[in-house]
Amino acid sequence: MQELAYMNGTIMPIDEAKVPIEDRGYNFGDAVYEYIASYQGKLVYLEEHLDRLDRSMTALSFPKMSRDMIRRAILELFEQSGIQRAGIYLQISRGVAPRDHAYPDDPQPQFMMTVRPVHEKPPEFRHNGATAITLTDLRWGRCDIKTVQLLANAMAKQQALEAGVFDAIFVSESGIVREATSSNVIIANDGRLITHPLTEQILPGITRQVILDICAERDLPAEERFFDVDTLYAADEVFLTGTVTEVLPIVAIDGRTIGDGKVGQMARKLSRALLESVGA
Ligand code: PDD
Repeated sequence: MQELAYMNGTIMPIDEAKVPIEDRGYNFGDAVYEYIASYQGKLVYLEEHLDRLDRSMTALSFPKMSRDMIRRAILELFEQSGIQRAGIYLQISRGVAPRDHAYPDDPQPQFMMTVRPVHEKPPEFRHNGATAITLTDLRWGRCDIKTVQLLANAMAKQQALEAGVFDAIFVSESGIVREATSSNVIIANDGRLITHPLTEQILPGITRQVILDICAERDLPAEERFFDVDTLYAADEVFLTGTVTEVLPIVAIDGRTIGDGKVGQMARKLSRALLESVGA
């Protein structure tokens, strides 16, 4: 089992992988990323991640890259690592060019990855639930594109930790609940799920979609619509979803208890269904 990096076709130890100082990802945040996890030696939702990567690259007018080449590179890095429960971080920048806001004429995208064991969330969060604060969403207007411009997310996560809670939930100036720093937010009321619709203000999370699909298969009512912070506080259940987060119940927000303060039925049921679907 070995942690490894991949740089434009070459696999190497992580500390040998270096990024040129004029990489546009480094200078402008002009790069997109994906984080893909494996369970028991099998990468899950790989095609969904490749679809989203393609959408991000298209949205930023990156040159087209072969999906087969990207898939083969991911699988090779994963296999060479021998890590059963791996997290592959994949980043593609527009390329290396003298610093200039305008895109270079002939961009050569730089493709890098790392593979390491997944940094699991503490099990007590799954059993007893975690806590969060709400913060005004300071991010840019295209959060649907998975770019590496994550400073507002990093600041919000840090603010949450300093407040003694697990995460921050972004709320718009007008009080609409969007998503958390690296997860989507779903609430449950009377057995009915509600989550923010797919707009430019949130990431189209793969786990969010898996949960919506599970609901559709099981005839559990789920709506994609806007809801405000008072609806969040008054929900029976709140949970976060994401590749690393999986289904993570939130039992207190801004110091207010959600529901009865315990992990709810819906979170338990959907968490089990998700773990079954990924073969955990
Ligand atoms: N984050 N929303 C945001 C802002 C995210 O960064 C993520 C994922 C999600 C959940 O998406 P998915 O279910 O496709 O993982 C929602 C990744 C894991 C990260 O930044 O490492």
